[in-house]
Amino acid sequence: MSLFRTKDIAAIVRQTEGGKTNLKRDLGAWDLTMLGLGAIIGTGIFVLTGTGTLTAGPALVLSFVLAGIACALAALCYAEFAAMVPASGSVYTYTYATLGEFLAWIIGWDLVLEYMFAVSAVSVGWSGYFQSLLAGFEIYLPEVLTAAPGAKDGVITFFNLPAFLIVFLVTFLLVRGITESKRVNNIMVAIKVLVVLLFIAVGVGYVKPDNWQPFAPFGWEGITTAAALVFFAYVGFDAVAAAAEETRNPQKDLPKGILWSLGICTVLYVVVTLIMTGIVPFMDFKKDMSHPVSLALKYAGQDWFAGMVDLGAILGMTTVLLVMLYGQTRIFFAMSRDGLLPKSFSTVHEKYKTPYGSTWACGLIAGLVGGLIPLDNLAQLVNIGTLFAFSLVSVGVLVLRKTRPDLPRPFKVPFVPVVPLLSVAFCLYLMLQLYAFTWMAFLIWLAIGVVVYFTYSRKHSKLNQQQQS
Ligand code: ALA
Repeated sequence: MSLFRTKDIAAIVRQTEGGKTNLKRDLGAWDLTMLGLGAIIGTGIFVLTGTGTLTAGPALVLSFVLAGIACALAALCYAEFAAMVPASGSVYTYTYATLGEFLAWIIGWDLVLEYMFAVSAVSVGWSGYFQSLLAGFEIYLPEVLTAAPGAKDGVITFFNLPAFLIVFLVTFLLVRGITESKRVNNIMVAIKVLVVLLFIAVGVGYVKPDNWQPFAPFGWEGITTAAALVFFAYVGFDAVAAAAEETRNPQKDLPKGILWSLGICTVLYVVVTLIMTGIVPFMDFKKDMSHPVSLALKYAGQDWFAGMVDLGAILGMTTVLLVMLYGQTRIFFAMSRDGLLPKSFSTVHEKYKTPYGSTWACGLIAGLVGGLIPLDNLAQLVNIGTLFAFSLVSVGVLVLRKTRPDLPRPFKVPFVPVVPLLSVAFCLYLMLQLYAFTWMAFLIWLAIGVVVYFTYSRKHSKLNQQQQS
């Protein structure tokens, strides 16, 4: 039964209240929304829309709506938990309080797929844009250092050096402390959103409705396959919840941050996709898969604005890296505080007040993975890991409403059990659209997690030690 031992929610809240936490409480609803936008808008919209359009045609807009609905349902469940258990560690902590230690460990382990591998995946997208920017100045890296092994057909490559270096830089920033990172983050997010708005403002005049015909050339299957891919574009809103202990008023601000950032992104994605596919006949996206958004502006003859979009994309992806790496270290922080990971993961730097050891460890691993594994494989893994986490959080809401109806819930999911059940159904449906290879890698990763749990975490768990004494 010890597998299902749960942490007491009241104790979790006490543990983090009253300045007892070592992290600085520095973030408000506005910062959280910016944090969310920082994590969300990135490789998904700037890079994966190319493949998405070729998979779904102009109906890619429906794929975005479908993935957006799945996220909105999960976001409501996240918001209920985030307001109720405002502690570092997001869904890991919620699961610990509801479904027990073993599942909490599994989910924490699973979140590595979402956060750490998202950092790796986005660093690869970043590297592509960066190299094309350098090419504009006639600067070229040695070919072997431009991509992961096997990433380019017919070209020998060893390592994606720019991908590794950008993660290194972001890690350095995060170690220096949340205040500085927040400032950098807010500026970059503002630029990124402005660039997207600029694209909309400039692009809308060049839309030819004829390009939307045929609307869904690959039918429903194309739409759902693309939805499972562009789901990546929404990954990250849950990073807002991971900042709970650095939030001034988590009960109010976390639900706001989560729902606002997701809502803004959904509207932007739908409009951008409509405009892109309205300017470019969808098969023409084949011409440049790595820059579909700026390709659309070039198609419209707006080269100068296309360059601006490129720059915005580079900045945009940098903020995704910042927020996702930040989220990963805070999840490890929580797991380590509970004894499930070694203590070094929650040791806070005296001067900077950041978990520096774990930040460096995560940054280096994420950078190496980004340097060595191609983008597509990484993005699929991120999606399956995230969808699994979303399903568990939705189940968690249902369980907790039954087992602890007494707990104060500053934010409540409407129409329970319909919304959480729909959320699980949408997530599973999208998971089923992913490749068999992705499923295999996912299950192997979970199996490794089970081994680590039974050989290390179970014994070292603080809850275990409390119960023994
Ligand atoms: N949603 C993030 C992106 O698209 C991970 O880059």
